Amino acid sequence: MTEDKMRLQKYLALCGVASRRAAEKLIVDGRIAVNGVVVTELGTKVSSGDKVTFDGKPVSGGESKIYIALNKPTGVLSSASDDRGRRTVVDLVSGDFPDGVRLYPVGRLDYDTEGLIFLTNDGDFTYKVTHPKHSINKTYEAVINGRLTEDEIVSLCRGVDIGDFVTSPAVADIIREEKDKSVVQITIHEGKNRQVRKMFEAVGHRVLKLKRISVGNVKLGNLKSGKWRELSEREIKILKGTAK
Ligand code: URA
Repeated sequence: MTEDKMRLQKYLALCGVASRRAAEKLIVDGRIAVNGVVVTELGTKVSSGDKVTFDGKPVSGGESKIYIALNKPTGVLSSASDDRGRRTVVDLVSGDFPDGVRLYPVGRLDYDTEGLIFLTNDGDFTYKVTHPKHSINKTYEAVINGRLTEDEIVSLCRGVDIGDFVTSPAVADIIREEKDKSVVQITIHEGKNRQVRKMFEAVGHRVLKLKRISVGNVKLGNLKSGKWRELSEREIKILKGTAK
């Protein structure tokens, strides 16, 4: 946690002690102490350095599984750390979690791509979502220079040679056309490095702006740039392939 204070029940929930509702009961029942003092007030807030205990045992953030969807801004790295000190997706969210929580990005977006990216501490989830055999659809909104011809759309949809790889069938729809640029929605299920940019390059267009708007069943929706939300149980189950 950073300087920002967090409500005790949220802290307990993020640490995997109990759901927020159940954590409220633990507090009211006098089973939680902060810095050695039992607290029964639901408004209590904790911050970095506070020692929280449940029935006398220390609570830390390491045990619970956390799954979040972040709207990554451009100019932020989708890695856990950077040896050149650039801001990462983990830097954007870590202040909102207890100190013991270590989150990692699921897959990657380019430095200059914005949009939906998941972060979790569940390696199994990361494996399932990123493994090619699960073929999870990813939809992007691309602003490109010029206009696509019918033939170019057909090529994108059938698969194009991006140098070291021929892409699988994709879905591409023109959303808007302006004088010298177009907005195109494209859905792919592979995740080759700079794949969408290379696909448009292969048919003679440059991507001016790229935003990921959905991954599998999860949509970016109106999540603001730099903000995150927790994935619902259902979203997690569908992504893991344990629910339809
Ligand atoms: N394709 C790209 O070209 N860039 C991304 O960040 C994601 C997909």
